[in-house]
Amino acid sequence: MPVREKFLSAVDLETVPLIRTRMLVIGCGIAGLSAALAASRRGPVALATKSAFMESNTTYAQGGIAAALAEDDRIELHVRDTLEAGAGLCDEAAVRLMAEEGRIRCRELVEMGTPFDRIDGDLAFTREGGHSRRRILHADGDATGRAITATLLDRVSRTPNIHTLENHFAIDLLHHDGACFGALFLDTNYGRLLRVEASATVVATGGLGQVFRETTNPAVATGDGCALCYRAGATLEDMEFVQFHPTTLYLAGAPRFLISEAVRGEGAHLVNQAGERFMRRYSKAGELSPRDVVSQSIFKELNRTGESYVSLDLRHIDPALIGKRFPNIMSVCAEYGLDIRRDPIPVRPAVHYMMGGVRTDLDAKTDIGNLYAAGEVACTGIHGANRLASNSLLEGLVFGHRAGLADAPESTPAFPVNRLERNMPPKGARLDVEDVSRSLKALTWRNLGVYRNGIHLLETVETLKAWMRYVLAEQFQMRPGFEVQNMLTVAMTIAESALGRAESRGAHQRSDYPETSPDWARHSLTAIDKDAP
Ligand code: SIN
Repeated sequence: MPVREKFLSAVDLETVPLIRTRMLVIGCGIAGLSAALAASRRGPVALATKSAFMESNTTYAQGGIAAALAEDDRIELHVRDTLEAGAGLCDEAAVRLMAEEGRIRCRELVEMGTPFDRIDGDLAFTREGGHSRRRILHADGDATGRAITATLLDRVSRTPNIHTLENHFAIDLLHHDGACFGALFLDTNYGRLLRVEASATVVATGGLGQVFRETTNPAVATGDGCALCYRAGATLEDMEFVQFHPTTLYLAGAPRFLISEAVRGEGAHLVNQAGERFMRRYSKAGELSPRDVVSQSIFKELNRTGESYVSLDLRHIDPALIGKRFPNIMSVCAEYGLDIRRDPIPVRPAVHYMMGGVRTDLDAKTDIGNLYAAGEVACTGIHGANRLASNSLLEGLVFGHRAGLADAPESTPAFPVNRLERNMPPKGARLDVEDVSRSLKALTWRNLGVYRNGIHLLETVETLKAWMRYVLAEQFQMRPGFEVQNMLTVAMTIAESALGRAESRGAHQRSDYPETSPDWARHSLTAIDKDAP
């Protein structure tokens, strides 16, 4: 029995307060907000997030959102660049759909009042790695995600059909016989449970960077959605493909703050400590190579020099442009004594984005009835083995919208509460959740990083199995305990998928299988073993 069913068994669901709605959306990044807005045209929506509404991966997105809107750009070029970055694993139909509908959705964002930056009144576009054109829209310089979130949230707040639930952690999906009926929440405002039953449920909970020690992701990115859907029986796809962002601030005591790829797009150089540009040694496209190539090149250079970080050098760029384009990066670096107009920024790669996730079709449908997934939590096949920069906000926007337009049964079916056994006594082991989390992050960072090998992957699987035996058996009552269970679950799916893929491709590099194999030009699929004890 999956772990949370044990928890549900211990809860008398009939006594838990109930909300019924047409659509439940879990998650408040660009995908969740877009889904809720689209769904609100067709009926009532409950929009839940485990933290505050501004707290999502989307809010922290800097570089921007890619869309073929510039005069010299075409859908075909956007599709081609995305497929090339994805190293043979992209689903072309999904990519094309994103590029086409993405233009429409981005125009809607403009109409809604998103303050995208402009030059002489026209939209301004920047460039990032792997893009053959300047096609990245940005807002407030380097605070694109925050501006989009604020715009969408403003619209949500003025939509009477959307009932918002802040600080509501989804403990588990209510599912039975291959269909989803909503979710059980822990309302952390008051420490009580809430049942939301819905005709359709959209999981849009974002990423899982917190599974790793070094990540650009905020504390909320604990992989909850993948774990929720996995426990409900949905298939996860391509979990081995975890993207490292090449340039995150590397200073003792500072957060692994993202230094946007757009900084290189505006001309910054990557240099070693001797001040030499090294990217051309490893890739013809230099600093603007796709992200996997830049991260791998940085590690090769660090191995060659024995140094522990490389630097981003902006000193040759007009200081006025730096101030205008990167006010946020400039002010965060200034907190640590760096003036980015004069001082090279010390950087290293850190975990940034999950290409894999819950398998969905072009309508964001999972393989569980009435259950949809959109945004980083989903795997539409768009990103393949390596995501092209700034395609993630676009994917969330397009597929969140599609999920929101999903058909839902006319009346909300009631969850068959009485199928559960009751009154299972809580176990109450003494468990230091913080210690489990720290140990997990150390393990994944050591063994699931940019370069992997079979021996360490096997060790990871065995270690996780041992930890999961007692951590997943625990009946937690608080969010950190539930989160650590989710983190272990998704770490295991990453480790198993990485062990299974005996080749190197995109963001998945195996030192024991350094070549890309035509036999592996296929997706990895993972689903819970329903017969496991
Ligand atoms: C960045 O600004 O470099 C991040 C953009 C992205 O992850 O696509």
